Amino acid sequence: PAPIAIVGAMHEEIAALLAAMPDEAPVRVAGREFWRGHLDGTPVVVVLSRIGKVAAATTATVLAERFGVRALLFTGVAGGLGTGVNVGDVVVADALLQHDMDASPLFPRHEVPLTGRARFDADAPLSNALMQAATQALADPAALVGAAAQAEFGLQAPRVHRGLVISGDRFVCTAHESQALRDALPDALAVEMEGAALAQVCHDYSLPFAMVRTISDRADDTAHTDFPRFVAAVASHYSLAIVRHSLRA
Ligand code: ADE
Repeated sequence: PAPIAIVGAMHEEIAALLAAMPDEAPVRVAGREFWRGHLDGTPVVVVLSRIGKVAAATTATVLAERFGVRALLFTGVAGGLGTGVNVGDVVVADALLQHDMDASPLFPRHEVPLTGRARFDADAPLSNALMQAATQALADPAALVGAAAQAEFGLQAPRVHRGLVISGDRFVCTAHESQALRDALPDALAVEMEGAALAQVCHDYSLPFAMVRTISDRADDTAHTDFPRFVAAVASHYSLAIVRHSLRA
């Protein structure tokens, strides 16, 4: 069968996935290493997208054109925007939008010109599998990250949310800016820098796409210090556990 692409935005996540693969072998394209192999018996291609919408779009295009993947799963972290979307929670995207797209007045705000749409849907069956996997994987946070990290980040009963995730080429790190995003897009659960670009490329190639993000910060004035602490201690453990559970589903 054709492989599933597993795309991460952080080196730590890719390293954890590669460590769980018995047979990974790199193929170098567009300056990136695409790791072919198996994860728990499923053929996969694992790759680091790098950061931002263009890097994500390049990665997705290569996966579609050169690797013939049958689906694309993205795993990473995001800033929480929605009420109750807290550090340590998980968000599964059901739609994705570029919050910095604005060709108005030629096209409506946020609409991707000539596509007729602002929101790109995630694949429902894959997203269902991610929801189930996240719920199972996070049942015992201490088993994944250790008791010290559990206490440091207050990971008691992480919640799994599903809804709109918004993307743009900005690390959102002021309360002012995150409030502006909430005002413009009240149903947005989380903000990050790749998802909507991946969703758009996958839409063009009719490739099923799904995305899971762990909340590393609240996209506010402390985001720049919350983000690296969380990524170092928690993100890759959550991500690996969720991906593995979802491949089994
Ligand atoms: N990824 C994780 N936190 C983020 C933030 N605050 N802004 C953009 N991308 C993020």
